Amino acid sequence: MVQKREICFKVFRFDPDRDSKPYFQAYQVPFVRKDLTVLEGLFYIQEKLDNSLAFRSSCRSAVCGSCAMHINGGYGLACNTLVSSLKGNKITIRPLGHMNIIKDLFVDLEPFWKKYEFIKPYLISKTLPSDHERLQSHSERAKLDGLIDCILCGCCYSSCMVTLTKDEYLGPAALLWANRFYVDSRDDAKDERLAIVNVENGVWRCHTIFNCHQSCPKSLNPASCITNLKMKLI
Ligand code: SF4
Ligand code: F3S
Repeated sequence: MVQKREICFKVFRFDPDRDSKPYFQAYQVPFVRKDLTVLEGLFYIQEKLDNSLAFRSSCRSAVCGSCAMHINGGYGLACNTLVSSLKGNKITIRPLGHMNIIKDLFVDLEPFWKKYEFIKPYLISKTLPSDHERLQSHSERAKLDGLIDCILCGCCYSSCMVTLTKDEYLGPAALLWANRFYVDSRDDAKDERLAIVNVENGVWRCHTIFNCHQSCPKSLNPASCITNLKMKLI
C-alpha cells in the first residue's frame, strides 16, 4: 500500500485572553495535490483538526493581501505559496511581525492603516473639481507601473527592522504610496506630499535595509520609492 505523504504544519499559537506565552502547535496535513497551498493547509487544519485556529484570508488569489504571514523564514501570501515550493516536510508559520497579536496568526493592523491614512492615499485635485475626469498620457501612466500594484499586505512593513525599533516610523508601504501619488501626473499636491514625508519618522528614518523589497510578494520596491522621495526633497 502506498503511504500518503503528510506535511507537518508547525503553527504559532497565542490567545492573549488565555495563554501566558506563545507556543507552536504541530498539525499533520495530507499532501493531497501538488498544487496545495499553505492557505489550503491552514483551512484543512481549521475545518478538520482544530477550529480554534485563527488566521485572515479573503480572495485566495493574491489580490487582497489578507493572508500575509511568515512562512519558513520569509514573508509571503499563504494563498500563493505552494507547499511543494517549500523544502522538507515541515512548514513553520508565524504571524506578521512587529504587530500586536489578536489571536494566533491574526494581527492588529491598526497602526499600519493609520500610517497609510497619514500619507493621504488619494488624488488631491486643486485645479479641477474632484469629480472631473483627469486624462493621462501613456507615458504619464507608465510612470505608475510598479507602484499601483501594492495590495497593502504588510509583508514589507513586518520585514523592516526600523518598524521594529521605531513605532512611529511610517514604514515602507505608506512611503511607497506617498511616492505613488507624488509621481501621478493627476495629483496637484506635490509640495504637500513631500512635506508629509519630510519628518523625523518619514523618509529619513529609512536606513535602506532593503528587506522591504526582498519580502514583497508583488515584487515591488518600496526602497526605491523612498529614495525617489529623498532625492526630490534634496
Ligand atoms: Fe505588500 Fe509589497 Fe505593498 Fe509592501 S509594497 S504592502 S509587501 S504589496
Ligand atoms: Fe526598511 Fe525598506 Fe528602508 S526595509 S529601512 S523601509 S529600505
